[in-house]
Amino acid sequence: MSTPSGTNDRDRVLEATDIVSLVAEQIRLDPKGDEFVGLCPFHEDSKPSMYVVPRKGFYHCFACGAHGNAIDFLVNFHRMEFLEALETLAGRAGIELTRTGGADGRASAGRRTLLLRANALAAKFFSRMLTDEDGDAGRLGRSILEARGIDGSTAEKFGLGIAPDAWSTLVDRVEAFRRDGTKVDGDEVPDLEVFEAAGLVRPSKRGTMIDAFRNRLIFAIRDELGRPIAFGARKIDPEDEPKYLNSPESDVFHKGGTMYGLDLAAKSIAKSRTAIICEGYTDVIALHAAGFENVVATLGTALTRHHADRLGRFCDTVVLLFDGDLAGQRAADRAVEVFFASTVDVKLCTLPDGLDPDELLRREGGPEEFEKAISSAIDAPVALLADFRKALDAAGGVSGRQRIVDDVINRLNGLGLDGVAGVRRSFIIDQIAGILGVTASMLDQGSRRYTPRPAEAAEPTDAEELAVMIRAAGGRRQAEESVVRLALADTALLTRTISMETGDRTLLEQFEHARFEDPPCREAWRIIEATASAGSVPEGPDLIAAIEDEGIGCIVSALFVEGLREVSVPDVDTSDLLQQAAETLQAAIERDGRLADRSDLASRPVASADEAVAAINRIRASGSDPAAIGRRRVGRVGGRFTDGSTSDPSMPTSIDAGPHE
Ligand code: UTP
Ligand code: MN
Repeated sequence: MSTPSGTNDRDRVLEATDIVSLVAEQIRLDPKGDEFVGLCPFHEDSKPSMYVVPRKGFYHCFACGAHGNAIDFLVNFHRMEFLEALETLAGRAGIELTRTGGADGRASAGRRTLLLRANALAAKFFSRMLTDEDGDAGRLGRSILEARGIDGSTAEKFGLGIAPDAWSTLVDRVEAFRRDGTKVDGDEVPDLEVFEAAGLVRPSKRGTMIDAFRNRLIFAIRDELGRPIAFGARKIDPEDEPKYLNSPESDVFHKGGTMYGLDLAAKSIAKSRTAIICEGYTDVIALHAAGFENVVATLGTALTRHHADRLGRFCDTVVLLFDGDLAGQRAADRAVEVFFASTVDVKLCTLPDGLDPDELLRREGGPEEFEKAISSAIDAPVALLADFRKALDAAGGVSGRQRIVDDVINRLNGLGLDGVAGVRRSFIIDQIAGILGVTASMLDQGSRRYTPRPAEAAEPTDAEELAVMIRAAGGRRQAEESVVRLALADTALLTRTISMETGDRTLLEQFEHARFEDPPCREAWRIIEATASAGSVPEGPDLIAAIEDEGIGCIVSALFVEGLREVSVPDVDTSDLLQQAAETLQAAIERDGRLADRSDLASRPVASADEAVAAINRIRASGSDPAAIGRRRVGRVGGRFTDGSTSDPSMPTSIDAGPHE
């Protein structure tokens, strides 16, 4: 890793960032020794696998292999670009970036960064227009908000604004900024083309650029970090169509995963462990203003698994709010589908008298009624199965009941029950059986189409693989790992003197990278050697970042964090550890040399799995444990999903709803 000037932006920002508080904004972290642990947000984690190491500014998940520094966390978790993550962290730490060329220089502002800048500038523009004391647009906008019971501070908090009743106010502003070289928030104003991609301006029929939103009330749609990523624009003139215009999808705005108000609601959702989902902008604003802050809205789509997964990081229960008493079978279906596919409980709630939240809150005793409605929300499966339950109760004979249960099972499997596994499946089956008044086993038999895939047998299929396994069984890999763990955890150990039979030397002198057989160990050592000969070995996190192969990086990252724990045990002398590890590795290398000379086991071709198993049994008979052969499982090695690939668990699935009326 090259660090061009000792104080480049990246290093300064990382230095100033507290990775624990950054990660803790997304998942709950508990202290454990010198580290913090929590449920990994990069895969479906059942026990805390995510370790955050404050003194190294590093995180690592022992289950899926996700790892990196604070910038990596933002890149992987929020899908930020490098520069975007750098700017975000600099902003948090109050650091001014120097942006002098290079990898983190201005020149590399990517698409997302530009779109975010355009949206940020537009958001500021719309809200200035609203607060402008002298302008007609501002006066009009403020009177509309007042009539809707939205005061100035609420408008500011939600970033409300107004688009003036003119063709090109925003276009003109952007062009003037660019002509004069005016910077906004320290950044150059993007080209109009970026504003067009963000859906803020568009070509008119005559070919000139015009504002996309004109004479409309503006709702800034912000991401979890509070950055404007899109806009909702409500008509002011009753003659205009449509009633609401929304920004198009872009690299920064994905409608199916975004929730309006989440930036303001996250804390309250985490605290109450419940998220309330209502219909739209005005409902969210009215409810927040009335003190119900755990409220968000989906953006014109039904709740998706993607929404639920996001919310599932903060809460256990999602309450879907419907005004009127028409929750409808379709809504219940979809809610159950989401319930099966995610890890949150989903409830349905209807408000009294067909009122929407805004109307309800305004009437006498409204807030109490609202609270009551929320606390009596119905579990989605109960809502879905109400009719089946009635039918079952009414059915006379055994075969009639059997037919109804079959129907239920078909229906539930159609909604995804057959894909639910494990403990959650048992809980769900019990719950549904309870709702229907039948036994759990009756339901389970009919709906168990899900067969977990058997774990892949760890049988070697060729000679080379067998040789590696046999050597590993002899402890070679473990010995290599011990040395690498210590070196990564404390690079000063590399130059510490160890005493070997053949004389005293440093660890680096004793082992060349070619002596390491385990690919991750060899790669780590190769980089250590290369950087050592160039002057200085970087700290673990940067060393890991220099590893190109993702899977190898995951394993080395795990070794690093394990090493940190090893060297931080009180009363343990790391020099002793080092001496022991070096001796063990040297012994393993020498033994393997003899083994290779005999070349009986290691180089013989393995004709069949049976033969391989026999070989393993020989290893067992010799007193070694072949089970220790298997490399610690690194789950989704590609688990960092930097490219939005299909293995991304948080991407919308097929149950992603289309727009609803
Ligand atoms: P409403 O139709 O009630 O909108 O939709 P409104 O702005 O409150 O208008 P009036 O005064 O009652 O007629 C409720 C929510 O549904 C979303 C908006 O978020 C709105 O706040 N919505 C509605 C849309 O996104 N698009 C639409 O076309 C309609
Ligand atoms: Mn309304």
